[in-house]
Amino acid sequence: MPEHILVAVAWPYANGPRHIGHVAGFGVPSDIFARFHRMRGNHVLMVSGTDEHGTPITLAADKEGVTARDIADRYSQVIGDDLCNLGLSYDTFTRTTTQNHYHVTQDLFKTLYDKGYILRQETLGAFSATTGRTLPDRYVEGTCPICGYKDARGDQCDNCGHQLDPIDLIDPRSKVDGTTPIFKETEHFLLDLPAFGAQLRTWIESQDHWRPNVRSFSLNFIKELKPRSITRDLDWGVPIPLLEYADRDDKKIYVWFDAVIGYLSASIEWAHNRGTPEAWRDWWQNPDARHFYFMGKDNIVFHTVIWPGMLLGYGAGGTYGQGGTSRETPLQLPYNVVSSEFLTMEGKKFSSSRGIVIYVNDVLSRYDADALRYFLSIAGPENQDTDFTWAEFVRRNNDELVATWGNLVNRTLTNVFKNFGSVPQPGALSESDRALIDQVEGGFASIGELLEAARFKAAISEAMRLASLVNIYLSEQEPWKMIKVDRERAATIWYTVLRCVDSLKIFFTPFLPFSSQRLHEYLGYEGYIAGPLEFKAYTEANGRSHRVLTGDYSAWVGRWELGNLPVGQTLREPKPLFKKLDEKVVEEELARLEA
Ligand code: MF3
Ligand code: ZN
Repeated sequence: MPEHILVAVAWPYANGPRHIGHVAGFGVPSDIFARFHRMRGNHVLMVSGTDEHGTPITLAADKEGVTARDIADRYSQVIGDDLCNLGLSYDTFTRTTTQNHYHVTQDLFKTLYDKGYILRQETLGAFSATTGRTLPDRYVEGTCPICGYKDARGDQCDNCGHQLDPIDLIDPRSKVDGTTPIFKETEHFLLDLPAFGAQLRTWIESQDHWRPNVRSFSLNFIKELKPRSITRDLDWGVPIPLLEYADRDDKKIYVWFDAVIGYLSASIEWAHNRGTPEAWRDWWQNPDARHFYFMGKDNIVFHTVIWPGMLLGYGAGGTYGQGGTSRETPLQLPYNVVSSEFLTMEGKKFSSSRGIVIYVNDVLSRYDADALRYFLSIAGPENQDTDFTWAEFVRRNNDELVATWGNLVNRTLTNVFKNFGSVPQPGALSESDRALIDQVEGGFASIGELLEAARFKAAISEAMRLASLVNIYLSEQEPWKMIKVDRERAATIWYTVLRCVDSLKIFFTPFLPFSSQRLHEYLGYEGYIAGPLEFKAYTEANGRSHRVLTGDYSAWVGRWELGNLPVGQTLREPKPLFKKLDEKVVEEELARLEA
């Protein structure tokens, strides 16, 4: 029975281009997983989009003197392009500024509010002494109470990194005109997380299949659950859906509250866009569906505690603003929360401001997407913080990807294409032929199991190990010599190798979709095993249009099962799958970093 699998990928902030640390954490792993499950024949829904509200966006806008919407428009475009070029096969990669997202977010807020899970509380907020208007948190500056840094902001101290409230600052001043702000009582809304404390604990404790750090971190977090503010003094965000706030522009829903709802709203949008508006329920109101979330470790509690708390509170309630009939089935909780560690860069933390950064679009302008995907799959920060170095990138590309898998494919295809032109008819298989085929075909089970468990490094390492076995077999059998004395035996050897290459192609497809598609074609097949992605534009009722990254993945022919490489199938003229990189690349790239 095909399963319904939701692949929910963290939403990147639309405040700048993404660097490879970002796609190492949420991007490539989630795509490998989604592609694998599609090949398994499961119903995969992979959703995400750009996270476009909150201070990350307004700060970038202030810096450039443009509006928050300008920044969001610009970077949602840039980020969408990067993710597409990297081959991340979202069913829907959308934006949090869509009308649909606003509706769904407001529905969740309103439902939680009506059910009593949102508390109203007076807290001290900063107001301008000159205009009397609210001063957004980031417009209040002062001395950090924790580290003494003089230019800390009301939302956080850039020196020590602590989250602050404007009221915490010593000697606060308005960033606009330097005057001392006036602190007055102002109302905020808090999610009553303690109301779900017991339920969350039981639920998290029973998640034996989570990565241990995710589970222990989450259990630790819920020891001290406090109501959490879900509104901010900001003019950029989803409006609070209560009558008394309808016309106010100084208070909005907190960006994290709306961002996690994106998983649901993007699923609803997907269903709507393809003309089956109820189809999202097959994932969200189906107790057998499994939801996998992918993110960096700084996002864990939002996905293991806060979003599940919101889902528990919401239950089955709501209308989604689309007039859908709400069934009495509560929304699904996460099945797994796959969090990655951090990627560092030549020993240092990525930092756009300090120039320690490699942007995805820079890498892709000089190297193939599969070369980057290979590195991030085999050497990514899956279980521990991991360093990216150019020397290691070149080494892994040349000594592993090119030397093992690339070389196997290249010498096999050029030889067979030249000498046979099609898949040769084998004679009787020898014991060693059989043994090799059996070992390689065992990968469907072994690699499949590793992928199912989100153990991507181990999975691709196993695929590489099987590829080296075929290389060893080739060096032993030497069919290029054999062909001179016994053409039939040579044909049998090449058939054996081709058959293994055909299986290895399937194993590598989730990791290396671009080269696997080319190999599929060289082998003489038709159709896509990893076909193109596409952008589509949608216009909503408010007249605004937005772009969605999607694709017709159900038409892809790749299956996670033994292929049936037909004898006699005409091969197409092969070209090398990968490029060997010059050692000079290392120096050049390091010089770029210094520049
Ligand atoms: N934008 C956040 C970040 O980059 C991630 C948001 S993930 C979601 O850290 F949960 F909000 F979707
Ligand atoms: Zn500080």
